[in-house]
Amino acid sequence: MADKKPSDESNRPGLSPAPRENRTNKVRREADRRITGHSIISTESRMGDRRKHDRRVILVSKHFNFVRFLKEKGLYPYEKAYDQPDGAEVIYQGRNIINLASVDYFNFAQNHEIKKAACAAINKYGAGGFSSKFSLGNLAVHMELEEELAGFMGKESVLIFNSGYLANLAMIISLLPKNATIFLDQKCHLSLHHACMLSQKKFYRYANNDTENLERLLQRHKDDPEKWIVTLGVFSSNGILAKLDEIAVLARKYKARIFIDDAHGVGVYGSRMRGAADHFNVLDEMDLIMCPFQMAFGNIGAFVVGKQYLLQTAHTEIWPYMFTYNIPPVNAASILKALEILRHTGVQLQKKLWQNVKYVRDKLLSIGYEILNPEGHIIPILIGDDVKVCEFAQMMFNHGVWVQPFVYPAVPKGKATVRVTCTVGHNAKELDQSVKVFAEAYRWLKAN
Ligand SMILES: Cc1ncc(COP(=O)(O)O)c(C=O)c1O
Repeated sequence: MADKKPSDESNRPGLSPAPRENRTNKVRREADRRITGHSIISTESRMGDRRKHDRRVILVSKHFNFVRFLKEKGLYPYEKAYDQPDGAEVIYQGRNIINLASVDYFNFAQNHEIKKAACAAINKYGAGGFSSKFSLGNLAVHMELEEELAGFMGKESVLIFNSGYLANLAMIISLLPKNATIFLDQKCHLSLHHACMLSQKKFYRYANNDTENLERLLQRHKDDPEKWIVTLGVFSSNGILAKLDEIAVLARKYKARIFIDDAHGVGVYGSRMRGAADHFNVLDEMDLIMCPFQMAFGNIGAFVVGKQYLLQTAHTEIWPYMFTYNIPPVNAASILKALEILRHTGVQLQKKLWQNVKYVRDKLLSIGYEILNPEGHIIPILIGDDVKVCEFAQMMFNHGVWVQPFVYPAVPKGKATVRVTCTVGHNAKELDQSVKVFAEAYRWLKAN
C-alpha cells in the first residue's frame, strides 16, 4: 500500500488547517466550527496553537535544565544501562540490584519455559518480524494468538499492535466515529491524551476517578449521538482502580460506550485474570479493552479486545493497524506460552504476587511512609519534591534497590512519588533486604 505524504493529511476534509498566528482565538474557533462541525473544547487542546507552542518551549527548556542539573549531580534516575536482568533483580556494573521498578509482574520475560518457547520460535521463524498483518506479517502463530487472547479475555474479537501507545492512538483516532464525544479521565496514560488531541474529536477531561464530575459532563452532553468514556482500569501513577462499576452504570444511563486501557489490571485483577472489569464484574459492559503485553505477559506489543462489529473496520479503515509491522512471530509464540502458563497456574501466581505486595505495603506503612492509595498492587510513596525524590531513588539504588521515581509532569508539582512494584519472583530475603533499605532511606528523608 502506498505511503501517504503528511501534506496529503492536511487536505483531508474534516481536518482543520494549522491556524495562522495573527488570528484571534475566537476567529480560529469559529473557523474550526465551520470546518469540523463542532467546536474544539479549548485552545489548549488545539494543534498548532502558537501560545501553547511557546509555553511548551518554556516547559521543555525548564525540563531540559532540570535533566542537566540531575545529570551533573549524578542523580538522573532514568536510562540506567544495566548489564542484564536476573529474575527479580538486575545486574548493574557487576552488582545485583533488587528490582522494585518492574511491571513484568509474573517475571515472564525471564521464565524458563517461555525462553525455551522463544528459542524454538527463533529457530523456526528467525529473530525479526515480517511486515504488516496485511502483507507477510500474518503467520499462523499470530492467528493462534488472536484466538487464545479472545478466549482468555472472553471477548469476540482481537487486534494485535506492536505497542500500546499505537493501539490507543488507533482506537481514538481511527476507530471511534468522527462525531464521537470523548470523556477522558484526567489521569489516563499520555497516549490517550495525545490521541484525543490528534483526533480533533470533541473531548472533555474529568477529574481522576470522579464519577460525579463525569456524570455532570455526560448530562451536559446527553444529546450527543456517540459518547465514549475513556479510562485506565488501574491508574499507573497512583495505583488506584477505576470505579468501573459506577462508570458502567453511568454508561447505561447515558447510552455511552466504554474504552479502558487496562495495562496494569489484566492478569493481576479478577478471578479469571481478565483485569479491572473482571474484578468489578462488568466485563460485558466494556466495549473495548486495550492491554500492552509488557505487564502480565512480560513481552512487547499490545492487544485490543471487543465486539466483532466494533473491530471489523480495523482491516479496512484503521491505518495505525494496517500500515505498521505486526509483532514478530517469536513474540507471538512467547506470549502464547505465557497464556498457557496463566491458564494453568495463573491463580497461584496472582496469589503469590498479592502476598508480596501485602508484605511490602504493610512494612512500608509501619516504617511511616505515606502511601497514596489504600490498596492496589502498585505502591506509590509520596516524597514531594522533584529533586528529593531523585536523591531518594539514588540512595536506594546505591544500597541495592531499584525504585522508580515519578516527577512533574508525570505527577502534579510538589507530589513527586516513588512507585514500588513487586513481582512474583521476589523471595523473602530480597523483600526483607529491601525493607531494611527503605527504613534507612526513611531516616534520611526525615533528617533532610
Ligand atoms: C497505562 C498504559 N497504557 C499504555 C502504555 C503504552 O504501552 P507501550 O509501551 O506498549 O506503548 C503504557 C506503558 O507503560 C501504560 O502504562
